[in-house]
Amino acid sequence: MLSLILPTYNEAENLPELLPKIEEALKDIPHEVIIVDDDSPDGTWRVAQELGLKRDDVHVIRRVGRRGLSSAVIEGFLSAKGDVFAVMDADGQHDMTLLPKLYHAVETGGGIAIGSRYTDGGSVGEWDERRHTLSRIATTLAIKLCKVKVSDPMSGFFAIRRQLFQGIVGNLNPKGFKILLDLLVHVPSSTKVKEIPFTFASRLHGESKLSRRVQLEFLEYLYDVTLGRYIPLTFVKYCIVGGLGVFVHMGTYVFVSHFFKEGADLSLMGFRFSVIIAIEVAILFNFYLNNIWTFAISRLKGMQALVGFAKYNFACVFGAVANYAVSSYLFALNWHDTVAVIIGAFTGVVWNYTMSRFIAWRT
Ligand code: GDD
Ligand code: MN
Repeated sequence: MLSLILPTYNEAENLPELLPKIEEALKDIPHEVIIVDDDSPDGTWRVAQELGLKRDDVHVIRRVGRRGLSSAVIEGFLSAKGDVFAVMDADGQHDMTLLPKLYHAVETGGGIAIGSRYTDGGSVGEWDERRHTLSRIATTLAIKLCKVKVSDPMSGFFAIRRQLFQGIVGNLNPKGFKILLDLLVHVPSSTKVKEIPFTFASRLHGESKLSRRVQLEFLEYLYDVTLGRYIPLTFVKYCIVGGLGVFVHMGTYVFVSHFFKEGADLSLMGFRFSVIIAIEVAILFNFYLNNIWTFAISRLKGMQALVGFAKYNFACVFGAVANYAVSSYLFALNWHDTVAVIIGAFTGVVWNYTMSRFIAWRT
């Protein structure tokens, strides 16, 4: 049996056109269709549910408060009954008359069958220059990561054997669009893969959801599965934020200490006060940026954010004390104030990463 997953986001106009064509293409194969919709604002889930009422072989999963093509597909696979799973865009871009070929390629002993735009006879169809180039670059990078030889690891049109998927589902990274790539990164290298050429058609209605954010997620993914195995991405992001925080700290220090200077002279008290203000401003800045970027996955909102900020301050206390003590000490030794402030600021960064990772964003 074939389980066809249709991930949807704002495809209300396309679904009613698509389903009869799929039905026709699959008339000789036992199958079910699973539509996984992320609570689309255009009400795709409602259209899908209505279509599903008329047919026993159409199921709908409406996910609320979640987004993402990869995770939607994984969820569809997890609820599927077939021994072969397939995925297809719900916008008419993939040639559904090839579904039987994809199905049989897996049925008869293959692990994965890919509807491929880059194998002989396939084509990306009508794309602008920019999308063409981006896709080429992404594909070239992606191919290097795959356990098996393929020409189009970024395709969104493929079939996979149930057992193969179940063996690796625990290792998958559900971020972004690259579900097939992620599967190819995790399958055993003995997996049999077949590519079937097709021409990527134009969308029936609506527009692509492959946003800049999705492209950024792709780069993050490349990092995650290479260097990220040794140095986690959150740590790299944290260091970038920490680095920027040092500038904020410096900037605030220069600004505040200005009010305490008499000529070129700055008292130890004035220095200490300026450093404390600078530390708190930097903490606020770091918390904000870490919350919306580094730890975006567990972003804190409203009251939670206030509590998180309090915890973050607590987590930073030791880093801040070290920062304060080191810079005051150096300043008292007559070091130049700027140098003392910079060295103090760096002292805090590594400590803070460890603490906030395990206290404020523990989830
Ligand atoms: N549930 C869910 N959640 N579905 C989504 C989401 C989401 O966040 N984002 C996109 N989809 C659905 C779309 O509604 C569509 O049915 C399918 O996933 C693919 O999205 P498109 O917006 O049509 O992507 P595309 O056509 O630009 O990109 C195609 O080519 C890429 C490679 O060039 C897709 O086939 C991609 O899978 C493929 O990587
Ligand atoms: Mn599409």
